[in-house]
Amino acid sequence: MATRANLPTSMIPLEQLTQDAPSRIDSAATIAELDAIEAETVGKRSPVNEARRGLGAIEDPAERGATGKAINDIANELADLISAKRVVLEAGAMERLLQADKVDVTLRGRVPQRGTHHIIQQTMDEIVDIFVGLGYQMVEGPEAETDFYNFTALNFHETHPSRLESDTLYLDYGDVDENILLRTHTSPMQARHMEKHEPPVYIVVPGKVFRSDAIDATHLPVFHQIEGLAVDDNITFADLKGTLEEFARQFFGRGTKVKFIPHYFPFTEPSAEMHAYTQGKWIELLGCGMVNPAVFEHVGYDPAALSGFAFGMGAERMAMVRHGITDLRTMIDPDVRTLEQYR
Ligand code: DAH
Repeated sequence: MATRANLPTSMIPLEQLTQDAPSRIDSAATIAELDAIEAETVGKRSPVNEARRGLGAIEDPAERGATGKAINDIANELADLISAKRVVLEAGAMERLLQADKVDVTLRGRVPQRGTHHIIQQTMDEIVDIFVGLGYQMVEGPEAETDFYNFTALNFHETHPSRLESDTLYLDYGDVDENILLRTHTSPMQARHMEKHEPPVYIVVPGKVFRSDAIDATHLPVFHQIEGLAVDDNITFADLKGTLEEFARQFFGRGTKVKFIPHYFPFTEPSAEMHAYTQGKWIELLGCGMVNPAVFEHVGYDPAALSGFAFGMGAERMAMVRHGITDLRTMIDPDVRTLEQYR
């Protein structure tokens, strides 16, 4: 420091300071440490201030002036060193903050375990969606059903074998007029809906159905169906064929061929099974037919003025055909590895 030579001998602490302070400032590791050094060297109780207070005692104005300047030079020089060091320490602190805050955008995110709809639900949703796209409305009905809606309104004869306890699960509701049972198909909603709504009717009914069957590769006591019903003033068998063919093409692929084979259902006349040619063979997909006038009579519709078609299909069956599954029990296998195959 150039000004040291001018210092009077009474200012030895200041002289000492000019020797020690620069290296102390330089080695300050933190801003707090630097603050302490600043207070000690140029602050209120520092040797610098001490020296300034001593100035009054110097009588010769020229000497007082020179000493004051010397003190100021030292003070300024130290202050400069301190502020330069402060800049360095602050930059370091900022750098550490940035480091601590650093986000590695190339790291793989934590992907939450995501659930999915069961294959049966997916299949029902997809089938309903196709019909909704064709202008149908989705409705649902009760699983505990009366004998009337499940059988009688659908033109099942009093002695039809489906009514037997060997086929149908009856519920014990005690002393009630009518037999209550677990619906064996989704068809009862045909009657329930027509009773409450004026034609035209275009509905699909997804839901659970129940039968008195033991579990094996082709039977489950609980499974799912999607029922469909279209009633209007001039519905023909051509409408049935066109609609169900379009459905099969949307569900299995544009090129899918279908054929209709005569069958019998009490609530449709004529009735048919629709088969589709997929994966190299003909497979039965669903039952269908023109609504039997007897059903219209049960719900108060005029069979002379109206016609309609109905169809019913099994959700499990549709899923199995689509995925090439051969054992119905796959559908109720709770093993996650089974379920994950059909995400
Ligand atoms: N309910 C019938 C069953 O469970 C399926 C069915 C066949 C529904 C023909 C219909 C139909 O609406 O027209 O086997």
